[in-house]
Amino acid sequence: MKREEALEKIKALQTELEEHNYKYYVLAQPEISDFDFDMKLKELEKLEKEFGIDDPNSPTHRVGSDISSDFEQVEHKYMMLSLSNAYSEEEIKDFDTRVKKIIGTECEYVCELKYDGSSISLTYENGVLTRAVTRGDGVKGDDVTNNVRTIRSIPLKLRGNDYPDNFEIRGEILMPFEVFNNLNAELEEKGEPLLANPRNTAAGTLKMKNSSIVAARKLDAYLYYILGENLPEDGHYQMLQKAREWGFKISEDTGLCKNVDEVFEFIRKWDTERFNLPVATDGVVIKVNSRNLQENLGFTAKSPRWAIAYKFKAESASTVLKSVSYQVGRTGAVTPVANLEPVPIAGTIVKRASLHNADIISKLDLHVGDTVFVEKGGEIIPKITGVDASKRHPMFEAVSFIENCPECRTELIRKEGEVAHYCPNEDGCPPQIKGKMEHFVSRKAMDIDGIGQETVELLYNQNLAKNISELYDLKKEQLEALERMADKSAQRIIDGLEESKKVPFERVLFALGIRYVGETVAKTLVKKLHTIENIQNQTVEQLTVIDEVGTRIAESVVDWFSKPEHLELIEKLKAEGLQFKISEDQLEGQSDQLAGLNIIISGTFEKHSRDQLKKMIEKNGGKNVSSISKKTSYLLAGDNIGPSKLGKVKKLGIPMISEDEFLKMIE
Ligand code: IVH
Repeated sequence: MKREEALEKIKALQTELEEHNYKYYVLAQPEISDFDFDMKLKELEKLEKEFGIDDPNSPTHRVGSDISSDFEQVEHKYMMLSLSNAYSEEEIKDFDTRVKKIIGTECEYVCELKYDGSSISLTYENGVLTRAVTRGDGVKGDDVTNNVRTIRSIPLKLRGNDYPDNFEIRGEILMPFEVFNNLNAELEEKGEPLLANPRNTAAGTLKMKNSSIVAARKLDAYLYYILGENLPEDGHYQMLQKAREWGFKISEDTGLCKNVDEVFEFIRKWDTERFNLPVATDGVVIKVNSRNLQENLGFTAKSPRWAIAYKFKAESASTVLKSVSYQVGRTGAVTPVANLEPVPIAGTIVKRASLHNADIISKLDLHVGDTVFVEKGGEIIPKITGVDASKRHPMFEAVSFIENCPECRTELIRKEGEVAHYCPNEDGCPPQIKGKMEHFVSRKAMDIDGIGQETVELLYNQNLAKNISELYDLKKEQLEALERMADKSAQRIIDGLEESKKVPFERVLFALGIRYVGETVAKTLVKKLHTIENIQNQTVEQLTVIDEVGTRIAESVVDWFSKPEHLELIEKLKAEGLQFKISEDQLEGQSDQLAGLNIIISGTFEKHSRDQLKKMIEKNGGKNVSSISKKTSYLLAGDNIGPSKLGKVKKLGIPMISEDEFLKMIE
């Protein structure tokens, strides 16, 4: 086939397959069999490979890839706000009154289901998906575009031609109940801990490094909010219909209401009807339909004045409290759990409820044998909301919080101002040690390939590694003797441990698991103090002089280094060859020349790679940011910068500097 012909064929297949995707995943009206679909997809894959076409928005990219990616943080063009909540019809009436008072007339409302998933903001430029960002803190989120491309109900290319050149559309990524239940059934079979609820699982899945696993997890998405200039309709409802035409999955269960009474009808209907839906919902969102009126109403600091979320009441039931047990977490925090007489609530059998802490137990005045009210919100583990005192027998004994650790018998402590009880035996209490080991090997810490939660459990229980330092004594033969450990996995662990000796000091410091020393604090300490000896010799006063280090952190660091067993651990790890001082590389050329400057890098450069430039910025005290905002100090500009970026920089009046100018700045 000639190239030209092939390109045409590729384009036709892409369009055809996306069309089938839309019919299957958005309209739920498939037209061809799965087999035929797969055959066409294979044909497209083959052609794209043969002719070197790598189009990120081709249907072939929907299967994901196992190349792992870190997520870049990007600033939202429009902040992602939340909604204010209402729990009664009364509060909805008040909302309606407020709205009418501001706009001075009656108005139409759109009622939508409040989907209980993970919110997402999608950007489309000239009809193609260019970016998908999580909510994050509302200002900045994670760029999860590659993972989102695997979600079949999200269009990669839009249909029709009347969409704006550039717009954002927001919605909710959801894991359908069926997919969630299947996943949990698999985990249960393997004896692994179960996932709490579809919402957290969807959010966790979106942040997975391996997009082919994301693809396999069959997420879904409903879109409900379009942002941009020159949108074709004033009505939000009408905009949603347009968006559906462009290929987005817009809920069919959306109502246009003439007045607040019709809003109540919608709410009453969905209060029970929602249990027949394939995904989780936790309320109804009521929005003023006209976008013009929305603009008049504006926003408060946290939420729009033109919308409100009515939250459904959680389902509840009453049952008997059989006993209370206690779990010790990796930080030593002790959590009480109520064991209940099994009772069905909202489609599942409830056997346990979390009690959170001692205060909650005393506030409820719980006695073993009590009849308690149990409520299930979005969580799989429900909570106890009250006690039916009329059913209490005088012989029932009050629940009193344990005084000793259920795992190691150490007396529990309760720090001033904190609600949780702690087991202070951090280096001798099994769940705490295992927790620290898991943290030590985790990706952002030492990133030791091949060791995860299960392996740590195994190593600990088999007496092969009873603490962090013993990990480095492991022999391949010992590992091979373990159940379910193949030769290859054993070698991977040994290699992973060896490899971890090159991990830079800042990550080693983070891996030690000193309370309050997260990734950023570890980086700062290493940058300022360079060696473990310097860090360990600091006083609280000296440490607090460092930017970003407060008393709480400083005290925790000093306290950690005051323990002989920790000093011993460091000596042992030093002897193994782990990094305990800042690398020459990092030290070389370090300065404060760019302190306080936010620099964005864009384009291609002659003398250095973008990665090298990024490192130079950081070494000299500056911050490399990934998206343009008012706070950006400079654009470090190379060749071939995209026009939209240039436009934005000019609009905000951000100065541009060339590679040479930048190098002069840090000379
Ligand atoms: S509109 C300016 N519509 O609820 C706010 N949000 O607390 C725009 N949500 O973060 C949000 N279903 O994740 C809107 N039909 C719906 C929704 C919805 C679920 C979530 C969304 C948002 C949160 C608000």
